[in-house]
Amino acid sequence: MDKRPIGVFDSGLGGLTTVRELRRLLPGEDIVYFGDTGRVPYGSRSADTIVKYARQDVAFLRTFDLKAIVIACGTVSTTALDILAAENSIPVLGVVAPAAAAAARATRNGKIGLIGTQASIRSGAYERFIHGENSEAQVLAQPCPLFVPLVENGRFRRGDIVIETVAAEYLAPLKQAGVDTLVLGCTHYPLLEGVIAAYMGPDVKLVNAGAEGARAAADALERADALSPNTSGGRYRYFVSDRQEDFSRLASIFLGWDVTEAVGQVDISQY
Ligand code: DGL
Repeated sequence: MDKRPIGVFDSGLGGLTTVRELRRLLPGEDIVYFGDTGRVPYGSRSADTIVKYARQDVAFLRTFDLKAIVIACGTVSTTALDILAAENSIPVLGVVAPAAAAAARATRNGKIGLIGTQASIRSGAYERFIHGENSEAQVLAQPCPLFVPLVENGRFRRGDIVIETVAAEYLAPLKQAGVDTLVLGCTHYPLLEGVIAAYMGPDVKLVNAGAEGARAAADALERADALSPNTSGGRYRYFVSDRQEDFSRLASIFLGWDVTEAVGQVDISQY
């Protein structure tokens, strides 16, 4: 048993979709969340910049005595997981391998669509893990650079002409190719599940990388006998690198519960 909190981070709000699933699975765990809202999006940046930012995010989180860190970000998981895992003495867990495994299990026709940020798609990491599970699978990858800024600005609801137009443009080639499984390879994208499911149709299975990452993290902690003895009432602490006011309002939507705690502001460039 281990009572220490789990650290979770993302470039912004997207990682809260992972926190939501973590709380559903492990309601007694304490969580320290950092969203780098001052530097989002990461997905259009170079691998070197993403690694630099991710190292700073982890350095901030490690000012707490944590038992593990969950990278609740597809972009950082595809680009910096190995580096962060090698540099830290506590487990550092990502979302890519669990999502790839879930997609390989789910597909029936062997055609898997993948959407993510430019950096995630460029890395080829999802394809590598999917092919590790199923070497025959055909992976059709589509970067969706406008999704993260639109979601961060609250433009994710069905009926919003802007997000529906952008989604149709990105998803059309995947729909035409007949994928039966679609990996939402960025933790912001579950907010778009309604829009994406409506466009792709009911026969396409959506794989939520953030939720798969949360499940894999919960399993890893259980196997290591590192779960908290508490089974409810975990404590949540939130930190951001930009305005706290904006965070609380949107975070409540991402999480599905009200963020009533004071949100801390961090000068992440100091780490
Ligand atoms: N939630 C991040 C991800 O999963 C968004 C990356 C970004 O900031 O562009 O990839």
